[in-house]
Amino acid sequence: MSEEQAETVTYTVENGVAWVYFSRPAKRNAMSPKLNRRMMEVLDELEYRDDVGALVLGGEGTAWSAGMDLKEYFRETEANGLRGIRKSQSESYGWFRRLRWYQKPTIAMVNGWCFGGGFGPLFACDLAICSDDAKFGLSEINWGILPGGGVTKVVVDLLPMRDAMWLTLTGDLIDGKQASAMRLVNESVPADQLKARTAEIANMMLEKNPVTLKFAKDAVRRVGLMTYDEAEDYLVRMQEACNFHDKTEGRKEGIRQFIDEKSYKPGLGAYDKDRAKADS
Ligand code: ACO
Repeated sequence: MSEEQAETVTYTVENGVAWVYFSRPAKRNAMSPKLNRRMMEVLDELEYRDDVGALVLGGEGTAWSAGMDLKEYFRETEANGLRGIRKSQSESYGWFRRLRWYQKPTIAMVNGWCFGGGFGPLFACDLAICSDDAKFGLSEINWGILPGGGVTKVVVDLLPMRDAMWLTLTGDLIDGKQASAMRLVNESVPADQLKARTAEIANMMLEKNPVTLKFAKDAVRRVGLMTYDEAEDYLVRMQEACNFHDKTEGRKEGIRQFIDEKSYKPGLGAYDKDRAKADS
């Protein structure tokens, strides 16, 4: 891997949280093929680390991500014909997909510009928090394409039809507070509180049973397209699979600490998972 590619994404792991950053601030964190390749490697490196319980995706500088790199992702790969186009698409869609079904809970921490293709990783993250002065837009229409790469699907899944259509047809920018009111993100906070608030949310994830978190987040994404009966059946099977995979038997421990020990109330917080059966 070239040094240039390695520098497109940076990360640190602190107190159980992986802080991953788009790191091309001079190019407003536009997603180039190098960045896409590096991001997949970083996700791979972090996914099963025992010291990572949640992943945050942020952006260095003034942008979260200005979308796909118009020069390197579009123009230069198109110059290599269909083979080049399909390769770069599979690299970007590949890490978006990997992030959508990531083993650990993920949080988009949107600090600035978020355009077009940036909605892919925004949607891929389970939760999203932004600064009030972040700016979101589907600029595709401004330069003559439709929001592809899954982006139209993202806005239709996340937003009411009128909002999805508005963003798609006008290319208008919305700020963080509007994005929060529209439910494109969970919360918008003043820029100087963004990292602290994101850390708080990540810490909420760290308190929960990690096996259950993975089953629960997948269930939220999967049941949307199922009938009620299919979802009911799927959720029964998934809980049983979760019980099987959770070698700590957290579910029984959660009941025990509430009913027998009376040491916590599930309505008000999580059971103490450190006192559950050792993971094996
Ligand atoms: N692709 C390639 N290069 C980009 C991109 C991009 N998406 N966004 C920014 N850059 C580059 C600029 O060309 C410029 O490069 P240079 O310094 O070599 O000239 C550098 O990043 C800085 O950009 P500026 O425009 O000078 O930064 P500014 O802060 O004034 O504006 C803004 C930021 C609004 C994000 C602007 O750069 C912009 O409109 N970018 C394109 C946004 C966009 O439409 N993205 C594509 C969405 S569609 C899709 O993803 C499929």
